[in-house]
Amino acid sequence: MRRILTLIAAIIICVSNAAAQGGMWLPVLAEQRIADMQKNGFKLKAEDIYSVNKACMKDAVVLFGGGCTGEFVSDNGLIFTNHHCGRSFIQQHSTLDHDYLANGFWAKNLTDELPCDGLEIQILDRMELISEDEGDLTQEGIRNAVIAKYRSQYGDKLEYSIEAFYGGNVYYLFAYKVFKDVRLVAAPPSSIGNYYSDTDNWMWPRHSGDFSVFRVYADKNNNPAEFSNANIPYKPKSHFKISLKGLNDGDFTMVFGYPGVTESYLPSCAVKFRQDVEMPTRVCVRQVIMDLMTEAMDYDRQIKIDYASRYSAVENGKKKWEGAIAGLRTYKAVWRKQELEREFQNRVNNSELRDKYSNIVKAFCSIYNGANIRASRCVFFFMESLYGLSQFKAGEQLTRLKNSMANPSSNIDNEINNVESKLRATFDRRDSTLERSIFEAMYKMYCDSCSDFLPDNLDSLYEAREILDAQEFVSDYYNTSLAAQLQTALQMVDDCREALKLTGKKRETKIEDIVETLSHDVGVYFYEAFIRTLFQKAYFTYYDMVKAEDDMYKRYQAALLEVMPEIIPFPDANSTLRFTYGKVGGFVPRDAVIYKSFTTLDGVIAKDRSTPADYDAPSALETLHRNRDYGRYADKDGSMHVCFVASNRTTGGNSGSPVVNGDGHLVGINFDRCWEGTMSDIMYDPSICRNISVDIRYVLFLIDKLGKAGNIIKELDVVK
Ligand code: ARG
Ligand code: GLU
Repeated sequence: MRRILTLIAAIIICVSNAAAQGGMWLPVLAEQRIADMQKNGFKLKAEDIYSVNKACMKDAVVLFGGGCTGEFVSDNGLIFTNHHCGRSFIQQHSTLDHDYLANGFWAKNLTDELPCDGLEIQILDRMELISEDEGDLTQEGIRNAVIAKYRSQYGDKLEYSIEAFYGGNVYYLFAYKVFKDVRLVAAPPSSIGNYYSDTDNWMWPRHSGDFSVFRVYADKNNNPAEFSNANIPYKPKSHFKISLKGLNDGDFTMVFGYPGVTESYLPSCAVKFRQDVEMPTRVCVRQVIMDLMTEAMDYDRQIKIDYASRYSAVENGKKKWEGAIAGLRTYKAVWRKQELEREFQNRVNNSELRDKYSNIVKAFCSIYNGANIRASRCVFFFMESLYGLSQFKAGEQLTRLKNSMANPSSNIDNEINNVESKLRATFDRRDSTLERSIFEAMYKMYCDSCSDFLPDNLDSLYEAREILDAQEFVSDYYNTSLAAQLQTALQMVDDCREALKLTGKKRETKIEDIVETLSHDVGVYFYEAFIRTLFQKAYFTYYDMVKAEDDMYKRYQAALLEVMPEIIPFPDANSTLRFTYGKVGGFVPRDAVIYKSFTTLDGVIAKDRSTPADYDAPSALETLHRNRDYGRYADKDGSMHVCFVASNRTTGGNSGSPVVNGDGHLVGINFDRCWEGTMSDIMYDPSICRNISVDIRYVLFLIDKLGKAGNIIKELDVVK
């Protein structure tokens, strides 16, 4: 590793300007990037981005709810993030009488603020490179020892974790302050925060006011504490000033946040596998599920409500992968990677590294053989389809119940309670007719495409029950299995409880009966046979493949660092704090089409009048628009800017991230990427990859003019 560390130190020198675009840089290494950033319009110093000795920007950026980013905007612990990041917490407080999702929420003072169950905010205290002398950090024992060492140095008020970079060639320690008393302060109505969310998701031009406002509370010593009425607003070490200056094309912007996962350094064969096998399989399954859901949701309002968030989640991934497949193909990602591999091979073959690396690409690619591809396709298929269905999951729970009853332990009551709560969760907000039609479609598709991985004894089941085909099988399942309905499954749970209350022979006979009934239940039988086969024939193969891939990716990255350091200037995203910088600017999504860099409220209102609409913008917003009542939030062109695009490289997890200008002032909140550039998780191309942000002036305009929450505006540090 020492060699790798030396190599990483050397990279700074050789990163070209082109490679600097699309970087996801470690804040602790800001010093390495600062000259380039300043050349591009950044006016601050490296220590303003990251420092452990003085307050800096990193103290104002938080990990929000584990999967999003947020930023402090006042010295009273006020946080901005996205509406879609705060959505489940807004939902938590929404009832038919107080539907904050539909109507918005604006706390007018601290006592109005709503505590959020389960919401955590993490603030990075410090990150440190771990010396290779610590030993093999994949070993749990060694990791714990390292954490214990840091804990004794920095105290036990912080939470510590160790994260792998460059596929595990380098490790850093992270220490966070974790706050658990976080309260909802404000959110616009979904018809603004989530405006045209499904139609426009992943797309530009975009018109969402995707923000929400929270506040972090601490104990009287400003330390993290469980929720208490005695807690007071947290005083962050630093917070962002907000600029009303606006942006022009070409202006510098920087995004600071918690990007989740990228895979930038995969070889061509791995890219091809994702592009041609993994993503298309997932897209194809999701499309069928979405079509069935849409039909039911259009037909029945209750289903529309119950399936709303599930549908969005299915749709979000599907649309992203479709964009990524199209982008990878259009931009010839596989071909470009092959070219790079030829160069790699040339350099290796002409150097003393020949023995070490001449076979590495070939070895990596041997992972994607026919057997592995067949197995993984069916694992993807299974995970996307049957695995999410309530009746299949209920089969899993009843199987568990059967196994527990066959051999009751002293813990049996807990096991039964557990099964019951899982069953309830499994059926929560599910429509049985819709689930059945999804089951039928998925099972048929699985039988057609994954016949190698069907249980051998399925034939005897079909024969015994006089089933002819997949459709009849699903009917039989629904007509006879206890797993088909929540009530029948719960009845069985009750029967088990009753049986356990009996004593002696009676108890024995009753339990035997139950185990017998469950063993013959089609749901249980199918679950056991199906899962056993899937594991034996596909999952283990897939699992070994993933392990081999991880191992090869680590080795390949070490090789790249040694042979072509200029193409691997920063480690893949791994949900740790990164900054990225780029420029405001539109793009050309296809021949003859030019996209501008910003949208306006005129566009929101124009869209609103067109059909079909996901939502109607509130009439108060229309009135503000009609009167051009934009106050100091209008752009110099007189319009109200809503969203803008720039060439910052972002990914899932960057939602809610602060977007700052050259002065380090907040100008936007990141919330999405453009569809044409969603390939950037694998291959970033500055000509087409854009992040989408909501303009901070639109956020303030909504808080001020729509929410009439002058109290919030007063707290902010607004600069011209
Ligand atoms: N595409 C954005 C992201 O990946 C926004 C998702 C939320 N909106 C939605 N319509 N699903 O998270
Ligand atoms: N909406 C995404 C998120 O929640 C950000 C979009 C992206 O993947 O870049 O993190």
